Parts: sequence; structure tokens; C-alpha cells
Amino acid sequence: MRIKVPGTPETEYGIVIGSGILPSAWAQIKAAHAQFNRFVVTDERVVAAGHLNALLGGRPAPYFTITPAGEISKTIDTAVAIIEAMEKAYLGRDTVVIALGGGTVGDIAGFAAAIFKRGVPVVQIPTTTLAQADSAIGGKTGVDSSVSKNAFGAFWHPAAVYIDVAVVATLDDRQYRSGLVESIKHGLIADAGYFEFIENHIDEILARDPETLMTLARNNCRIKGGVVEEDPFEKNKRRILNYGHTVGHAVEAASNYEMLHGEAVAIGIIAAGRIETELGLSKPSQLDRIRAVFERLGVPTRIPADMPPEKLLDLMRHDKKAVDQWPKFVLLDRIGQAHYEAGQYAVRVSRDLVERTLRQLT
Ligand SMILES: NC(=O)c1ccc[n+]([C@@H]2O[C@H](COP(=O)([O-])OP(=O)(O)OC[C@H]3O[C@@H](n4cnc5c(N)ncnc54)[C@H](O)[C@@H]3O)[C@@H](O)[C@H]2O)c1
Ligand SMILES: [Zn+2]
Repeated sequence: MRIKVPGTPETEYGIVIGSGILPSAWAQIKAAHAQFNRFVVTDERVVAAGHLNALLGGRPAPYFTITPAGEISKTIDTAVAIIEAMEKAYLGRDTVVIALGGGTVGDIAGFAAAIFKRGVPVVQIPTTTLAQADSAIGGKTGVDSSVSKNAFGAFWHPAAVYIDVAVVATLDDRQYRSGLVESIKHGLIADAGYFEFIENHIDEILARDPETLMTLARNNCRIKGGVVEEDPFEKNKRRILNYGHTVGHAVEAASNYEMLHGEAVAIGIIAAGRIETELGLSKPSQLDRIRAVFERLGVPTRIPADMPPEKLLDLMRHDKKAVDQWPKFVLLDRIGQAHYEAGQYAVRVSRDLVERTLRQLT
């Protein structure tokens, strides 16, 4: 599968999907970047799970292990440490950075690659359900500041993406389930048939069946890739990927990031669904269907009781996509079809309606 990204140095990149392909990825990257040195960025848990060894297969290669793993390390200091490690290894512009890990590793390593010597290629090897469905495809990279998430960032589309569905076998259950919410989001915004496939295969998905996960990966890449091709720098259509994220981001922040991203987005999707029902865009039975899938997945569908709607509304006023201190919403006309109005995919929804929705969900 290939994704075209006009206006970028790579102009198009390939996505390889398989099960157990980690050991062969190294040789493929070497062949594709024959004149390049390779530098791997990963994190301590991915290393402990054996995935760095599987990728390297005993070959010596310089690498950087992010410690501790997780969002807390997604800082400019980590990006600086990666760049300095590359310099100390005498690496120059002829280096390809290989990001082996979840969205945290992918975002930091992609950002370091974007700014190292004015930019070197990055290959994404996502190892979480979230990264495989979402963050590794699309070219957004960045790190957090002490004030906000992804405050430093760049669009830096990968040179290639390798999705090995076997690596998620070692992911803890909560992370695993939460990351799947982005796959469901793809079905909701773009493909009713894909949503139905997920609905009908929850057991196989939860059993981490490789064949089923490869079907998911192919659909995720097709849908997200298609949107990114159409709008690589998020001028309009790409906004649909933010479905459920307006309320989702507020819930995630209000939980002090104790709630996982996908868990918060699941709540955000339910909130968007309620708004659609109130506006008469979609039927209540549709929302019941979506809620049932989330329940089987074991992700939350209600706002925690200790999270006051006022706090969420305040956080939404600071949403980075807010205009006049109020964000726009991506909504659905029906499953598989994002709502489009006056040339826009993100539309205005009154504060009253949002507030009422949040109260109903608390
Ligand atoms: N760039 C984008 O478009 C985009 C999109 C969505 C999210 N993100 C970013 O992604 C980040 C979250 O990503 P995430 O959910 O993948 O989190 P993560 O990368 O922090 O991974 C979650 C945890 O799982 C561990 N882990 C990763 N792979 C594993 C494996 N195969 N086996 C065992 N443990 C493993 C990690 O070490 C970490 O402790 C956030 O920073 C978010 O902002 C970026
Ligand atoms: Zn998301």
C-alpha cells in the first residue's frame, strides 16, 4: 500500500503490513536506504518485550532507548538527547531514523528526525494498537511543553511504515483495548462496512488474532491514508480524523492523563453521537450500536462522576482548534459518513447543547 503526500520530500511512502515481519524489516530498510546509516529510537518497555532484538536480529546498530517509557518522556529534552546521541555516533544527513514503539516513540523520533541537520528520513515501526491504527500514518510528529501537548511539532511524513501485528501480543490489555478505539473511529467516519466488520469480529480482535488484525491494519491504512493524501496538512478533510476528539481531549486532560487517549476518545465519540441525535442528524439506534461495541471492548462510555462538566467546558475553550474560544465539532450523518456543511467538515455546535450533552453523560 502506498500513500502519496504532495509537497513533501518523500512525495509518497509505502506501508508494509504483516504478521512476524519485524525480523525482515531491517533488511528491507537497508535495501531501500542503501547509502544510509540507521539509528533506532525505542523505549525501555519495547526493548524489554524483545522487539528491539527481533528487529536487529543480533546485528550491531546504534540505538537510543527512551526511559521512562510513556508520555512523561515526550519532551524537548528527550528530542535533544536523541539528536546528541546521533551526533556522538558520528551520524550525519545520510541517516535514517527508525522509530520502534508506540505513539510516544513515533512522535519523538519523528520530530528528532525532522529537525536533525534540517531533516533526515524516518521509518515508523508502530508497536501499539494506537500507533498501528493512527499515529504512525499521517506524518504528525512532536513533543510536549510544560504547558501543552505537542507544543513543538512538525509535519514529517515517514519514508516507510512497517506494521507487524504480531508485536501487539505483548501489549498490556488496557493499552491494547484503548488503541482500538481509533480503528472504530475510522469505520465511523468513512466506512460503514468496516465498522460492521469490527462489530462482527470483536472476539477475534480481543484474542489478538493476526489475520483479523491485518484486516484492521489494511482498513486503517486505506482510510487514514486516503484522508491524509487528500489533505496532508489538515486544511479541511483531515479534520474528520478528529471525530470524538473535541470532548475526548478535554476528558483526557481533566483526568490528568490517567485516562488513556482511546478511552477518552470513546467518551468523546459517544458525546458526538448524542449531539448528532439531538440535532436530528442520526438516529438513537445508531448510538446504541456504537455504545455496544465500546462496551464489548471494555472502554468507558460515560464521563467519570468526579469530572465536572464546567471543567470540561473550560478545557474545550482552550482547544487548539478553537475559534473565538469555542471549538468546532466533527459529526456524522450516519455510520460511515461524516457530516459536511457549507464546505466544512468541522461545524459549530452551541455551548448549550454541548453542556447538556456533558451533563447527560456524567
Ligand atoms: N502523531 C499522531 O498523529 C498521533 C496520533 C495519536 C496519538 N499520538 C500520540 O501517541 C502517544 C500515545 O501513543 P501510545 O498509546 O502508543 O502510547 P506509548 O507509545 O506511550 O505506549 C504505551 C505503553 O506501551 C508500551 N509498549 C509499546 N509497545 C509495546 C509492545 N508491543 N509491548 C509491550 N509494551 C509496549 C510503551 O513502552 C508504553 O509504556 C501520545 O503521545 C499521543 O499524543 C500521535
Ligand atoms: Zn486520537
